[in-house]
This record gives sequence, C-alpha cells and structure tokens, in this order.
Amino acid sequence: MTHTPSTTSSPIHTTRHIERIVHGIATQDGAGVQLTRMIGTPSLPMLDPFLMLDAFRSDQPDDYIAGFPPHPHRGFETVTYLLAGRMRHKDNAGHEGIIEAGGIQWMSAARGIIHSEMPEQQDGLLEGFQLWVNLPAQHKMDFPSYQEYPADKIPIQTESNGTIVRVIAGTTDQGTQGVIQQPLTEPLYLDIHLPAQHTFTQSLPIEHHAFLYVIMGEITLDDQEGQSKLLHRDDLAVLSLGATIQLQANETDCRLLLIAAKPIHEPVARGGPFVMNTKAEVRQAFYDFEQGLF
Ligand code: FE2
Repeated sequence: MTHTPSTTSSPIHTTRHIERIVHGIATQDGAGVQLTRMIGTPSLPMLDPFLMLDAFRSDQPDDYIAGFPPHPHRGFETVTYLLAGRMRHKDNAGHEGIIEAGGIQWMSAARGIIHSEMPEQQDGLLEGFQLWVNLPAQHKMDFPSYQEYPADKIPIQTESNGTIVRVIAGTTDQGTQGVIQQPLTEPLYLDIHLPAQHTFTQSLPIEHHAFLYVIMGEITLDDQEGQSKLLHRDDLAVLSLGATIQLQANETDCRLLLIAAKPIHEPVARGGPFVMNTKAEVRQAFYDFEQGLF
C-alpha cells in the first residue's frame, strides 16, 4: 500500500523531480471539521514515514467549531502547524496548552494518549496542517512526549533576495537549524516564502522521502521526463529520491511546505487512531484503550 519513490540511474548526483502530483480529498473528521486529506487517501495511502496529512482552511465557524473532542492515539506522532487561528490542546496526562498562529506542536503519542484539539475561537480564519509521522516498532510503546513552540521560537532564515524560511525541523543549506528534534526519522519541515521568479535549493539525504505542498502561488519543478511542471495552490508533489531539490517560483510570490524524513520500512497496520506493525497490536491498542490503560 505504501508509495515508494523511484530513483533514477545515479541518485547520488541527482536533483529531485516531481514523481507525482496529488490533489486532496475533501472530508471531515473529529466532530465534523471540514478538511482536505492529502496523504492517507486511496491514491496516496502513505509516504513512509508519513501516514497522513490533513490541510484545513476556513473562515466559516461551522467548518471547524466542533473541533476534535477527546480521542486516543498510539504508535506514531501528530504534528500540528497552525498558519492562522488558535487551537486548545488538552490530554489525559494533564498537559494543556494553546497552539497559536505560526506555532508547532510535535506530539509523540507513542504508547498512548487521549487528547482533544478544539478551536480557541468563535469566528475568523482557522488554517493549518496536521501531519502524522510513524514511529519505528522499537519506539511505538515509548512514553508520550511533546515538543511545542510558538511562532517566535521558530528560527527564521531571511535571505537577501527576500526568501524567508521558517525552519521547524531539520537544517537548511545555509545552516539554520530547526527547533524540533526527532532522530528516529530525521525530519525536515520547512515553511518557505519564495519571491516571484526566485529559486530555492535544499539538499536532502538521498533516500529520505519528501513532498511539497503549495500554500500560495505557483512553483515550477521538473517531472521525470525533464518537463517543467507548474504546481498550484493546494497541490502536493511527491518527490523522487535524490540529493537536492531546486524550486523556482513562478510569476508571483509563493509559499510552500517542504517536508522530508527517513522512511521506516516496516509493516504498517492501521486501525483508526492506532498505527502499529500488526493487526494483533492494533487489537491490543483498542483493548488497552477500552480498559482505561492509556
Ligand atoms: Fe488527535
């Protein structure tokens, strides 16, 4: 079920190209939050270690106000990045806080957490992403943990040509280090503002899986035949393997997420909010949750 990007003949020196362009599926989750699922759909079930990516953007309270009342997770991490609005987060271990615009919450649910994620606003725009990142078998039953940072704690790299990169995880080619540490999957998570017609280059470990998501504007990138392709707002591009990526903004300024991580290469068994290696482990997760063991 997992999508494995291909390599070209000599990946060591290659620039990554577009492997495929994916459009999301409008769906709802939680108590009726309208969102667009980009990863975790029939056309892109996962991009190891990424299990799911949901994008949400609405200024209609009915689309988000019901939020995500208490629900469990086990076996992976949920990563929430807000562009606009406020979300209150609360879990069964007493951890509570508000994620505000520009803030990141990297929650390692691991052995289990029950939490709620509720909009802390009655109106206005709520916009952001939730990414699910898998954990290797050896760490699925670790204790839960959080890495949480508001916007002003996220390093910003400003280049002379006007490019602005918010470095959430990983390190840019200019040496700016992100705030999130996750040595198990070595993620790169960049929020990039690229002025019209400028380029941005980033090196990546060759075997790491990577994708782009266009938040605003248009980006030009080659496909596997070397044809230049235009990526539009809300397009997700799965990238081929390779050593570097070079992005070119089109006629207008653009904003995008560039996300990559080391694939885990293990069997994946899913059951709703639980992601384990075997169906028996998923059944155990349901049992443990029902027994109040989370
Ligand atoms: Fe959740």
